[in-house]
Amino acid sequence: MPTVETLFNRLRNSLLANRWAAILGLVVFVGAVGVGIIMGGPLLLGLVGVGVVLVALALLAWHGRRTHAAVGGAAAVGSFALATVLTLGLIQLVPYGRDHSNPPTIGEPAWSSPQTRELMVNACFGCHSNEVEWPWYSSIAPISWVVTQHVDEGRDEVNYSEFTVDQGEAEETIETIREGEMPPSYYTVFGLHPEAKLSDQEIADLIAGLQLTPGMDEDD
Ligand code: HEC
Repeated sequence: MPTVETLFNRLRNSLLANRWAAILGLVVFVGAVGVGIIMGGPLLLGLVGVGVVLVALALLAWHGRRTHAAVGGAAAVGSFALATVLTLGLIQLVPYGRDHSNPPTIGEPAWSSPQTRELMVNACFGCHSNEVEWPWYSSIAPISWVVTQHVDEGRDEVNYSEFTVDQGEAEETIETIREGEMPPSYYTVFGLHPEAKLSDQEIADLIAGLQLTPGMDEDD
């Protein structure tokens, strides 16, 4: 049985011999978790990072066995590029995230005006309704996983298309907007969903309109 110390030494020697691969692996993993934190899916995207690193290490091990040599920078970069393509291809087979259905609308709040509804549609219906628009990139894993996770969670909290049967957390609506909590910042980062990035005036109009809409505030 190898001791923990010899295992550790072997790992260290192998990392030192393949330091390019080690550095690239770290960059891929930190990158995946970083994008995950910004886009609100750290676990899912971190897993993709781990997948790429594992496939790349397997490719490097195979390459090293054939050539009996430590692997240089170019081979490490090549392995990671190939591993990224292979991993992204493989994860398309995962069924989760492909269901882009919109159940029928059962009943909405009694919006105080068409403008209030329009602002809510622009800023909130992407996750809290049965009128979710699924852009093309929402069909590509791992983005599809993150989008589906947000819509599932959002509909669970409050679904403004099923308001007449279950009001969920709707009475928090005004508060989440006032505190700038909703829409979540990742939804409008990098210029995504510009229609959901409400101006100060639109936020003020929306809050005023929601105060005249029953069920949007704890006091109603
Ligand atoms: C990108 C998807 C997305 C968009 C767009 C979005 N939400 Fe949410 N919302 C969520 C998720 C996910 C949760 C549950 C987790 C959380 O609270 O962050 C949530 C939670 C809520 C809750 C429950 C209370 C709470 O604080 O958790 C309310 C109320 C809410 N959202 C209202 C809104 C309103 C109003 C808008 C538009 C101004 C909006 N949301 C836009 C995804 C979204």
